[in-house]
Amino acid sequence: MSEPKKLIEVAIPIKEISAECVRDKSIRHGHISTLHLWWARRPLPICRAVVFASLVPDPLDPSCPIQFKNAIKIILGKENNPNDPYKPYDDIPYTSAIDKMDDNERNRLMMFIGKYSNKFIENEKLGKSTSAKDQLSDFSLIKWDNKNNKEILSKARKLIWVAYNSKGDNSIDAILKDYENHIKSIEIAENELYNSINRHIDSKVVKELENNLNVSIESFLNKMPKVFDPFAGGGAIPLEAARLGCNSFGNDINPVAHIIQRGSLEFPQRFGKPISYSKEEFIKIYGLDYWNEKSSNREMFFDENKIEIKNRLSFDVEFYCNKLLSNTEKRVGYLYPGNKQKAIAYYWVHEATCKNPTCLAKVPLMREFYLCDKPDKKIYFNPIISGKQISFSIEKGEHNIEDWIQRKNLKCPICQNITEISELKKQFNNRDTSIKLIGVIEEGANSKNYRVPTTEELNILEKLPSEIEFPSENLPEGNNRDLHCMGWGVKTWGDIFTKRQIVFLNSLVEEYNKLLEDNNLEYDLALKTYLAIFIDRIAVSNTNLGGWHKGRETLERIMGRQALPMVFDFPESIPFSESTGSAKNQLDWIIRYIESESANEFYTKCNNASSGDKYQFSPKELAAVITDPPYYDAIAYADLSDFFYVWLKRTLNKVYPLNFSTPYTPKTEECTALRHHHNNSINDAKIHFENKLLQIFDAIEFQTSDIVSIMFAHQSTEAWSTLCNSILGARMNITGSWALDTEYNFTGLKAGKSFLASSVTVSAKPSSKSGIGSYKDVKKAIESKVAIEVDELYRLGFRGADLLTACFGQAVSEFGKFNRVEKADGSDVTVTDLLEMARESAFNALLKGFDGDDFTKFYIGWLQLNSFSMSDYDDAVRFTRVGLSIEVNDITKENILIQNGNKQVLATYKDRISRNSKLGEQKQSTLIDISHRLMYLYNSPNRTNLLKFIEINASENESPIWRVITSLAELLPKDMEDYKLVVGLLTNKEQLIRESKSSITPKAEQSQLKFE
Ligand SMILES: C[S@@+](CC[C@H](N)C(=O)[O-])C[C@H]1O[C@@H](n2cnc3c(N)ncnc32)[C@H](O)[C@@H]1O
Repeated sequence: MSEPKKLIEVAIPIKEISAECVRDKSIRHGHISTLHLWWARRPLPICRAVVFASLVPDPLDPSCPIQFKNAIKIILGKENNPNDPYKPYDDIPYTSAIDKMDDNERNRLMMFIGKYSNKFIENEKLGKSTSAKDQLSDFSLIKWDNKNNKEILSKARKLIWVAYNSKGDNSIDAILKDYENHIKSIEIAENELYNSINRHIDSKVVKELENNLNVSIESFLNKMPKVFDPFAGGGAIPLEAARLGCNSFGNDINPVAHIIQRGSLEFPQRFGKPISYSKEEFIKIYGLDYWNEKSSNREMFFDENKIEIKNRLSFDVEFYCNKLLSNTEKRVGYLYPGNKQKAIAYYWVHEATCKNPTCLAKVPLMREFYLCDKPDKKIYFNPIISGKQISFSIEKGEHNIEDWIQRKNLKCPICQNITEISELKKQFNNRDTSIKLIGVIEEGANSKNYRVPTTEELNILEKLPSEIEFPSENLPEGNNRDLHCMGWGVKTWGDIFTKRQIVFLNSLVEEYNKLLEDNNLEYDLALKTYLAIFIDRIAVSNTNLGGWHKGRETLERIMGRQALPMVFDFPESIPFSESTGSAKNQLDWIIRYIESESANEFYTKCNNASSGDKYQFSPKELAAVITDPPYYDAIAYADLSDFFYVWLKRTLNKVYPLNFSTPYTPKTEECTALRHHHNNSINDAKIHFENKLLQIFDAIEFQTSDIVSIMFAHQSTEAWSTLCNSILGARMNITGSWALDTEYNFTGLKAGKSFLASSVTVSAKPSSKSGIGSYKDVKKAIESKVAIEVDELYRLGFRGADLLTACFGQAVSEFGKFNRVEKADGSDVTVTDLLEMARESAFNALLKGFDGDDFTKFYIGWLQLNSFSMSDYDDAVRFTRVGLSIEVNDITKENILIQNGNKQVLATYKDRISRNSKLGEQKQSTLIDISHRLMYLYNSPNRTNLLKFIEINASENESPIWRVITSLAELLPKDMEDYKLVVGLLTNKEQLIRESKSSITPKAEQSQLKFE
């Protein structure tokens, strides 16, 4: 019998997954993203859902083992689940979010992954919204709150177990019994190990107990699928694979990502377990003071000579991080005078010299003066100018001081002369600028207070050591896109710190190196890793490129937005303070993460290597590969992570000698298309990305028996072509494709622009290609598949580039059935041709056969996809390529899109008429021009003009113009004037036509209105 399809090839609960993904963005405490910064992390719900759905068969597939179908009945049926929480949705009237579903095994499986809560369903019926945390039922696998829910996780693990252990006619009872036995043996081994007192001592007994536990875990994992993520990054996918009890593996080329993975996917699961110490041993390790301090905590003590610690790892990380901090404070605490409870940060500004030779004042580069700018609280720096000297007081209220930095040029407040940006850059590059301390931020009773620095705070800077060693590693040459600060004289990773920051960080590193002895104990390696992560967290919050959020009144660390822009004024956090942003506060995030992921006993085996090694796994050893490859050139992982690498090298080089042996993170083997890593040639970069991805997928195909699921969030056809070429080139074809609205918010800089708000997950399997397909037939098949997909996606709320891209998977699956696809002239159809065709089909499907002129098509299509939201120039360029023969310039010339800086927005009828008073009157007017004039005339008092116009342009019920007006009525936002006008026109259409015919106006010449 053939292999059954996996669930992911057939169905997944898209809306429910999307809902929980949106929620995932706002979850903080204990979330994987809060341990250490990494870029483009996938939301956990989609990872859990995709892993699970890639591993279980579709129960309705004729080849699905009967044992699996029975398992669903037992595990998800109503007999064993009070109130039947996995019952598929009933027919619920008046809701568009929930569809009626038959009660079958497939749908029960879907409901297990994610099901809307009763509260959500009730609210939907009433048209009310539901808070994000209440949208899914408490029984849903992907719900954040269930990540440590033993009962729900064991259902998922059992289902996967059954899927991989149903052989021949072994009964479901026997399979489940075997599962229970394995789990029991893990539990027994855990109890024996964790209940043995002083298990930190490396004795024969302890070794044996540890070994028993490892053997029972391995024995369980041997019966579970091996799941591999070759681009593991911040680790979201392998984390979820291990949570579901799989034998999880993750690779990443980047040593920083590798350290993050060890800290997130391995150590909490291995070492975040209970331990008990005798009083004597405890004091030996932590000292008498700590015993006295902790012995007052009743929860920890189970008799006066023993202490029971719930989580050994988090306990030790807290102990050693605090020790590190207090040792460092003893050395450099004097550099931060003032009240430790209150002071949060110092505020600095760069000063440059006014270029006017008669002025030459040193001017603070103030882009704006507010320190706090909230409706009910305004605090600002008030400049005091005395001759050529500028100082500041800090005042409450509004100010009307003109910014000194205008369009990046400096306007001198003393002589009013302009010093251009080029001159400013020159001064920065020549190191002719300085920084000045101008404010101090303190914790107040309910909010922050601001004051000028005291003399002591100013004078202490004189006490800084004269010899300070700054990190001398260079920023990556050529990455002007992300590292804008390089144009401002920032050349080395040391340049982004003040002297005091470096003195503090260097002291931390020195104390770190003294703290734990050198040994090869795995547990100590884990501790050293978290201490290094702690220092990374402190470093990223202590640079001269950070920010102060004037609305939230919080410190903003660098690089959240995948870039390093130059800043002229910045806060310097006070690390030993007790408040938010302090070094101590960084520890809290680490502890919370460790504790929230310690419940699981299965960890990921992380490997720091470039993927694509065909012999990393045996042929077909892996059951599934689930991954999220780099998005072409969107994120320069290696470049950005050098920031952390520089510090990790100083802390972890002895602990992980091989991973930190090179001066920088590996760049050339990284699977990205960044030209500055490839002789500055776009073409070389592209070829490198294509080759690397193909090599990696080729190895994957060799190693994987079941399925490859790939998440991708890039909208460019080029990036998609490469991905699809790699899948097809590695002898696989796409067998399922899902767009999920993960609402990833990559705001800000250029690099983020090419992301989709949603991501597309495609599943691929070894293909059975045959023959040569004809372009005509493939096109027809794609058109009909895409038309169905577009309808569905539109209904689900997908818009914009996301909608057009979401159809790519469907198109490629048609194409990949053939060895090649050929045009009538015998030439090959490329994947790029195919994706352009898919985009065009999606666009046409959206227009539903609307066949007007290109300008009108553009207007209707754009309205449908983007409505009146601001869009980038690139979006318009891409849009005009969708089967339209017009250029973006024509679109702007016709005032269809209105330029606003480098953004653009669709024009309303008023926007257009105000720019062209004759709009729609000319003979060759387009349908959209005529429609807009019609709306204008309908809104004008002169009815005769309106009727005359209708008589000429829209005198028949079937006149094309009415179809445009009808489309506009369907698509325009209901609160807009345009909407009200088109609805008015449609409501009065019959009468207007009648009146126009009987009006005694001389017949004007009919303008040429034709559908092509
Ligand atoms: C899109 S990210 C993965 C993000 C991840 N899914 C998460 O949730 O954090 C892609 C990752 O691929 C890694 N990478 C790039 N080239 C690689 C290669 N040749 N081998 C292994 N990993 C590579 C990058 O370092 C980056 O961490």
